[in-house]
Amino acid sequence: MKKFYLTTPIYYVNDKPHIGHAYTTILADVVTRFHRKTNDDVLFLTGLDEHGQKVQQAADKRGVDPKVHCDDMAPRFLDLWEKLNIQYDDFIRTTESRHILVVQDLLQKVFDKGDIYEDEYEGLYSVSEERFITEKEADSGEFKDIKKLKEKNYFFKMSKYQEALIDHINQNSNFIQPEHRKNEVLGFLKKPLDDLCISRPKARLSWGIELPFDSNYVTYVWFDALINYVTAAGYSNEEKFNKYWPADYHLIGKDILTTHAVYWPTMLMSAGLPLPNGIFAHGWWLSGESKMSKSVGNVVDPLGLIKEYGVDPVRYYLMREMVLGNDASFTMESFIKRYNSDLANDFGNLLSRVTNLLTKFFDGKIPKCEDNSKEGLSIKNNGIELIKNVSTKIEKMKVNEAIEIILQFIRSVNKYLEIMAPWKLVKSDLDLAGKVLFTSAEALRVSSLLLSPIMPNRTLIILKTFCAEQSSLKWGELTPNKTIKNHDVLFPRIDIKKIKNENVLQKKNIQPDNVITYDQFKNIELKTAKIVSAEKVEGADKLLKIQVEINNEKRQIISGIAEHYSSEELINKIIIVVTNLKPAKIFGIESYGMLLAAKKGKDLTLITLDSEKVNTGMTIY
Ligand code: ME8
Ligand code: MG
Repeated sequence: MKKFYLTTPIYYVNDKPHIGHAYTTILADVVTRFHRKTNDDVLFLTGLDEHGQKVQQAADKRGVDPKVHCDDMAPRFLDLWEKLNIQYDDFIRTTESRHILVVQDLLQKVFDKGDIYEDEYEGLYSVSEERFITEKEADSGEFKDIKKLKEKNYFFKMSKYQEALIDHINQNSNFIQPEHRKNEVLGFLKKPLDDLCISRPKARLSWGIELPFDSNYVTYVWFDALINYVTAAGYSNEEKFNKYWPADYHLIGKDILTTHAVYWPTMLMSAGLPLPNGIFAHGWWLSGESKMSKSVGNVVDPLGLIKEYGVDPVRYYLMREMVLGNDASFTMESFIKRYNSDLANDFGNLLSRVTNLLTKFFDGKIPKCEDNSKEGLSIKNNGIELIKNVSTKIEKMKVNEAIEIILQFIRSVNKYLEIMAPWKLVKSDLDLAGKVLFTSAEALRVSSLLLSPIMPNRTLIILKTFCAEQSSLKWGELTPNKTIKNHDVLFPRIDIKKIKNENVLQKKNIQPDNVITYDQFKNIELKTAKIVSAEKVEGADKLLKIQVEINNEKRQIISGIAEHYSSEELINKIIIVVTNLKPAKIFGIESYGMLLAAKKGKDLTLITLDSEKVNTGMTIY
């Protein structure tokens, strides 16, 4: 049994997963399902990157402990992987003790070897990237929130391994894929490598793994995160480790190429461990022209798509639409086009033609044998070729091309049906009509098996239709005389006109001159608050002086709602307050914030929340 160890990045838990994270994980699932089909001993690892500044900041923002934050976020990823039908073998979280022990063990090894030294460093630091950046990078304008920082830290002698790394890349043509990414890394390595700062003083950042040789520091998040790949391979279990390590592929997005293709291999060299066989960096999903990203706020939520169209079409679209290695643009229009042409028209149509004709003319029974005419044999030979070619494409990580050749085959079977016209043949040559349908059904069975790693649910329905769910990926395994099973229309057409109308409705509410960016919205601080007292402002009919409580802190707000609420009915209501509004004097009284209310004409209602479920001081976003 050949082992096959494949990893995804471990995702940051600073926000919920979006379609980009879903993409890499589905790709990993598809590739490993193909390998499982050939009986490889697969280890498919995914997980979460839980330490470091980004996560600490996300937790701070919510006012919770970082570990609590991580525990809140983990189920969001696990739920999505379940909904997406991801068959991972291991799910690692970097806060698990199995991982912390390995990071510390490796750090100590590298330290004992003399590859870690202490130094004071002054430089430009990017808070969002969590690393020191060069002057040139700072000038590029790509980095937000840069500050000057002077710090004593520990450094890993990355530069020591530069030559060895270049040699390794040159001698192992599959080490960095695709080719243009390899050249990018080699280009980067033309300049002398800096050593890598691998510590953070606890005074600045405490959320991390403590250095085994200095308890005043935690480990830099990347030196911690990358090690997850050996932790899960069984670093502390020799037998398991020897079996699975080195990984066959680290699947990543191009955003994290340098950390994987430069930091990670040099770390492994220092620790005396073999390097991974392959690092494969795919491109970005763009939303229109720009990268989909949490901070830009243009992300597509995979859950909505799954709910609307089912998980298999979503998996299909993502795998088919992205040429591995290049960027791809996500649009609903291309999603629907792809769905309607490939799935509804080609695949779905072939299935309903074959099952309808079998039901109508053959009592719903699979005929006796295949078609040996020139046309029939050509389908058979192409089917046998296809099985080989798909496997080669997958071997080379060309998933979108594998799908395309399967669809070409399906289209050719539709053409074959048109040429042979079994619906006419039934009158003149019932026997031949049966053979044509047998060959078509066999082609459907093989196509379904080939597409099953991409669409596990719906292809299983097709296989069950032909009583072939146990059959294997070889031409000629369809069993004659079985009664086919009924099924619903597998890929109903999506009405593009209907969707367009909905989009128009949504767009009407957004006018270019009142659009704000996500960042602008984020600047408004909205918190839940409890009203503890309210009284009329003397001399002003409309105003109430309201005291609210937010996290045990009191705050006074003057609000023009006296005509709508009496003082008594306001007490204990949980409301939403804009807390960072510039303080103002209203009627000579200080006001520190604003209440949110819904208003139309003369009607006004305060926005209130269920006081049983909500505490004060929660952030609204
Ligand atoms: O970088 N298009 O985590 P992360 C395609 N924790 N793929 C995308 C994408 C997009 N628009 N956006 C995200 C980290 N991805 C680190 C990794 S590994 C030891 C540590 C996918 O949450 C893609 O795989 O920012 C990318 O590399 C990864 O999510 C980054 O996820
Ligand atoms: Mg990222």
